[in-house]
Amino acid sequence: MNFDKTWEKNVYSKGQQLNRYPYTDLVSYVYKFYGSKINSGKVLRVLEVGFGAGNNILFFAREGFETYGIEGSSSAHGFAVQRLKDAGLSAELIIGDFVSLPYNNDFFDLVVDREAIYANTPHSIRKTIEEIRRVLKSGGRFITFMYSLDHGSRLLDEGRLVDSNTYVFEQGKFAGAGTTHFFSKEEIQDEYLKGFEIQLMRHISVEKVIPEQRNEYAEYHVCALKK
Ligand SMILES: C[S@@+](CC[C@H](N)C(=O)[O-])C[C@H]1O[C@@H](n2cnc3c(N)ncnc32)[C@H](O)[C@@H]1O
Repeated sequence: MNFDKTWEKNVYSKGQQLNRYPYTDLVSYVYKFYGSKINSGKVLRVLEVGFGAGNNILFFAREGFETYGIEGSSSAHGFAVQRLKDAGLSAELIIGDFVSLPYNNDFFDLVVDREAIYANTPHSIRKTIEEIRRVLKSGGRFITFMYSLDHGSRLLDEGRLVDSNTYVFEQGKFAGAGTTHFFSKEEIQDEYLKGFEIQLMRHISVEKVIPEQRNEYAEYHVCALKK
């Protein structure tokens, strides 16, 4: 089991991080790449790894995607299932560790990681992305959001280094949420996504100025196609 159980124990079983709305930038990428196909009658099959309380899952289900998700926290899974039911929507959601994906080869048109893979060790991250590549159709797309080395928490929150660019924090945004890996551009391009053609890669860095000046967060957005 690679899934860090602190997500269940410290976060979801306490009713925390119950994100309600889909991540704005994910909505933009989905419309950029699939806008003309949505509701055109063609069924697109999407998987979200680490779907949390299901905020992005509800968005995909509502937009007519055939929607799947895998999540390690049973409490988060329960929240997502209830939200789907309340909204009259459906998706195939399972509890499991995404380091090993229980889906057939060449099955999905799209796999989404909205800041979930980062919460693992480099070894597990490598295995997860190999699995994502396996379950994607040829030419299928992987959209991922990965915290970068410039993130203020890495620079300022004095995390304990547990692996290469991988920390556990006792203060700041990541306190109590287990393993946190920060990515470099080279590592994403040359190592983790080497079996993909990167279509778009952005580095977003947000600077807070009041009440104090610091980098609030920094992350890569990557849209990549399975070669
Ligand atoms: C920061 S939350 C993001 C939740 C959701 N994707 C969102 O956009 O709001 C990270 C999620 O990844 C899940 N997760 C992390 N590692 C996992 C693993 N190895 N297997 C399954 N789920 C995992 C956590 O339980 C948590 O729900």
